[in-house]
Amino acid sequence: MADRESAKEARSFSHPRSTRSHTSVGSLSAAACNSGFLFLLLFLSVILISPAAASGKKIIFDTDPGTDDAMALMLALHSPELDVRAITVVPGNTTAKQGLENALRMVSLANRCEIPVAAGAQHPLFQKLITAEFWHGKNGLANIELPPSKCKVDARFGPDLIIELVRGAPHEITLVPVGPLTNIALAIQKDPSIVPLVKEVVLMGGSIKGGNVNAAAEANIYNDPEAAQIVFQAGWPLTMVGLDVGDKTLLGRKHLEQLARTHGPVNDFIYSVAKFLVELSEKFGSDGTPMYDPLAVGVAVDANLVTAPLMHVDVETRGEFTRGETVANRRGEVERNVLRGDRYIIEGLDKVRPNAKVCIDVQADRFLQLFVSRIQGK
Ligand code: BDR
Ligand code: CA
Repeated sequence: MADRESAKEARSFSHPRSTRSHTSVGSLSAAACNSGFLFLLLFLSVILISPAAASGKKIIFDTDPGTDDAMALMLALHSPELDVRAITVVPGNTTAKQGLENALRMVSLANRCEIPVAAGAQHPLFQKLITAEFWHGKNGLANIELPPSKCKVDARFGPDLIIELVRGAPHEITLVPVGPLTNIALAIQKDPSIVPLVKEVVLMGGSIKGGNVNAAAEANIYNDPEAAQIVFQAGWPLTMVGLDVGDKTLLGRKHLEQLARTHGPVNDFIYSVAKFLVELSEKFGSDGTPMYDPLAVGVAVDANLVTAPLMHVDVETRGEFTRGETVANRRGEVERNVLRGDRYIIEGLDKVRPNAKVCIDVQADRFLQLFVSRIQGK
């Protein structure tokens, strides 16, 4: 925002100069030259300094902040390919209240108070909230105390804000949810007409190779399976950036060293968050920390980072051992079993309609270097 503020200042300074009245013809043309020059400077600064606002992909970042959410948010805020239109907060890693505080402090740290930050749901649709201090620290942000926020909360309810922004920019908004899908499901329920108006959804959640909560379920889906099923079945273009692909993007000591070489408020904050996570993963025998949420942002930045074939995905909401599992059909078809007398007979195969691109592979090094380069020096 410092950069955006100076661009704004340049704009307001240039006006009095260009409207000066008591001037000779010579000084008028000099003034015209000056104002032309100022205009050019202003134009260049807007183009070069904040290309995101000019041309980036418009995204709404829905988050349960959260350590890897923090890394994802900072990646989004420092990627010129993206224009973050709003941040909506959902309970998950932390309570709704703590998550909102975390989001506001991070947006303030990044000097981006112009981005609306809104509170959303207070709990999952049909179950109790499960918070994850065990993985994310007591405050959700690796126990790092950021300075109090200069930014103010937006008064709108998160799902309402999503509806408003989507309706205000039809076919332009990409939703990037990296927490439980409660807010997105509520937005669909309140106004299903937004579905065809959303450009696409790139979400972190699910897995086609087992879970992290238990054998079957990934945390974001497990924390609100009914909401997830609503989101997966909505009928919009959706990319699932799941646990199994996130597990291939390990940020380790090498990346920490790269982040330690440069400085800035965001750089240093993310270094500390990443160090907390790398140390935590080392305790559990891994060489690095999986970049789950940042990878979803990475895919919004550059879909070519991943291989993502189309599949039909359902969310299990009833299974005794599998509630919250994303059940992906990898063959694209199901058997047609027809009741003939006292038994069913397989009479062929029916195609299933895909509803998601499911990430199965990632150019991990390219993504990790993208992440580090976007954070360094910020
Ligand atoms: C997901 O769960 C949360 O703990 C992380 O922030 C991420 O969104 C990974 O399962
Ligand atoms: Ca998250």
